[in-house]
Amino acid sequence: MDINKLVRKNILELKPYTSARDIYEGDGILLDANENSFGSTFTEIEGLKLNRYPDPHQNDLREIVSNYLSVSKENLFFGVGSDEIIDLLIRIFCEPGRDNVIIPEPTYGMYKVACDINNIETKSVLLTDKFQIDFNEVDKAFNSNSKIIFLCSPNNPTGNLLNKVDVARLCEKYNSIIVVDEAYIDFSIEGALIDEFKEYNNLVILRTFSKAWGLAGIRLGYCIADSDLIKVLFKVKAPYNISTLTRYVLTKAFVNSSVKDEYIQSIIAERKRLKHQLETLKGIENVFDSDANFLLIKCNNPIEVQNKLIDKGIIVRDRSNQPKLGGCLRISIGSKAENDLLWEAIKNIL
Ligand SMILES: Cc1ncc(COP(=O)(O)O)c(C=O)c1O
Repeated sequence: MDINKLVRKNILELKPYTSARDIYEGDGILLDANENSFGSTFTEIEGLKLNRYPDPHQNDLREIVSNYLSVSKENLFFGVGSDEIIDLLIRIFCEPGRDNVIIPEPTYGMYKVACDINNIETKSVLLTDKFQIDFNEVDKAFNSNSKIIFLCSPNNPTGNLLNKVDVARLCEKYNSIIVVDEAYIDFSIEGALIDEFKEYNNLVILRTFSKAWGLAGIRLGYCIADSDLIKVLFKVKAPYNISTLTRYVLTKAFVNSSVKDEYIQSIIAERKRLKHQLETLKGIENVFDSDANFLLIKCNNPIEVQNKLIDKGIIVRDRSNQPKLGGCLRISIGSKAENDLLWEAIKNIL
């Protein structure tokens, strides 16, 4: 598939802004970017050079993640959270007032919001009762102006992985960008689509450091995709989108990456323990299987349960107004102590 044929005409023709650090990167007497050559007002972290703009090509980040995933640097792009990449993809491929985006639901709400902000029509289609892709639904909704299909695996808020063969079939069948958001993939034993992206140049895999890595505060996400598509992302991004502080933290986090693996093990163990406990409660109709760091439960009176938990200082997310999710609450897996408190509280409520 020729990805550039899907790109909006004005983006294809765009002459991107060339920043000072695009043209020159390195040492010297840097008088080309109107920075402050005297220094920075923040000096607590030695060697950070916060008075200078960061590398616009994201070379440091791309190097680290390229080694980590054994994926070429040319296939990686970093955004201010994966939310920024969702927005950029919509702006690259979808012409406002003409194109549309297909969103199998229930799923993460930002896909629709990002489309709404960009004045892009969304076609909401239902997942099957097992929260898998329903090809009939997608077929009915898809037309020649459908530019992106947003998928999420493991899906938020249902927690399940999508069948890999279904995703591959979508990539083959539709002349459109297929985004698979793998924000929660670290909590699943298998199911990552990392090998498939090489086969399908219309597949974009989204990842984030906000979940398993415990770095939601630094706002960093990335995508793995065909190198032509990555080039377009670089063309449209803000010149210095990823800050020096974020890069510094990520570099340090990778030195310590075994901590992330320990977190994952603990979260999976707590997920299992909490699921078993919740399944014993008569007031809970279903505790859905989860490959993520949350559990979706179904009960008769979700709002009442949510409010009673709030009274005890425990906040969970009501998802009961989403399609196919009547009665459902989403509970993030907390620390062991937090889960014990949740269990005591919910046991008393139900
Ligand atoms: C499925 C999914 N994708 C993306 C995000 C946002 O990730 P980031 O923090 O990288 O913007 C979330 C946040 O909850 C999410 O659930």
